[in-house]
Amino acid sequence: ATTLKAAVTFPIGMIVSADRLSGNDNNFTTVLNKEFNSVTAENDMKMASMFTAPNTYDFSKGDAIVAYAKANGIRVHGHALVWHSSIPNWLKNYAGTDAEFEAQVKGYVKATVAHFALAKTAAGKPVVESWDVVNEAFTDGAYAAAFYKRIPNYLVKCFTWAREADPTVKLFYNDYNLESQGSKVTEVVNMVNSFKANSTPIDGIGLQMHVDYVTTSMSTLAANLTTIKNTGLLIHFSELDMTVNIYKDLTTLTTERSNAQKAKYKEIAVLYKTIPAAQRFGITFWGMRDSESWLLSFHNNSNEWPLLFDANYGYKPAYNGFLEGL
Ligand code: XIL
Repeated sequence: ATTLKAAVTFPIGMIVSADRLSGNDNNFTTVLNKEFNSVTAENDMKMASMFTAPNTYDFSKGDAIVAYAKANGIRVHGHALVWHSSIPNWLKNYAGTDAEFEAQVKGYVKATVAHFALAKTAAGKPVVESWDVVNEAFTDGAYAAAFYKRIPNYLVKCFTWAREADPTVKLFYNDYNLESQGSKVTEVVNMVNSFKANSTPIDGIGLQMHVDYVTTSMSTLAANLTTIKNTGLLIHFSELDMTVNIYKDLTTLTTERSNAQKAKYKEIAVLYKTIPAAQRFGITFWGMRDSESWLLSFHNNSNEWPLLFDANYGYKPAYNGFLEGL
């Protein structure tokens, strides 16, 4: 195969924004349409973007993404209904009672899922096939305090509300460090088991996959993936990128480091294919060009090259490695 999406039967995803798709950067959309068949909104479909005031929602940017995806035969993965890092300020400081706070979150989850369920392909399939219902609930408990404290049992409730709003959309729990942290994997698997025991709906687990070319252990990742795979749920590598310069020893990407990144991207593609076909939801990259990665500001380092394409949309060795592994 000569493109990512043609190489495999599971979807290959890219993050987008409504602005990026609005037509002023043909380079971006050319690569997007050629290589990818799934999209996730980097920020436009998060709570802080769409939940503008009590009982008030602005779905316009999400709608623009959905319209683009529909016109181009691309799937949309919704991200993320409830996340500690994307709570609109008015809700963060909400002065109402806990019951009123819960009613706001419930109203948002149900209205959002119901709204995005309306978009259908010509064949009648939903364009938005799935949602990350809750993002990063474990270990980040302190940050998620608003939800934990004010909504008893909020994990169960959010998944239940989402299912009530749409009986078929696929519901995901999404988190980081599942590739490396056994204790967090245990927390997630315990959640899944308790959901199953109580008939709380859940369809999939997203491993964010913000990995590093050397510090991420492939054997730990493989072991954790096996544990998660044994839940029988769908598995999404939901935010894949790979740092190569966390110790800031490089000012330009060397051939050696680039080849190490290529090799690890290949191993990740190979590993994903060990998941039974019926559980493969897809692999989504958290960015197209190195120069636009969220990691540049996150690691406070402009010398980082985590993705498959360089600043000029050139194909990196990382791209070839990943394609070889597919
Ligand atoms: C990030 C975006 O890439 C940034 O633009 C934004 O400022 C913060 O959020 N885990 C997630 C994603 O689940 O939603 C985050 O995206 C990256 C970490």
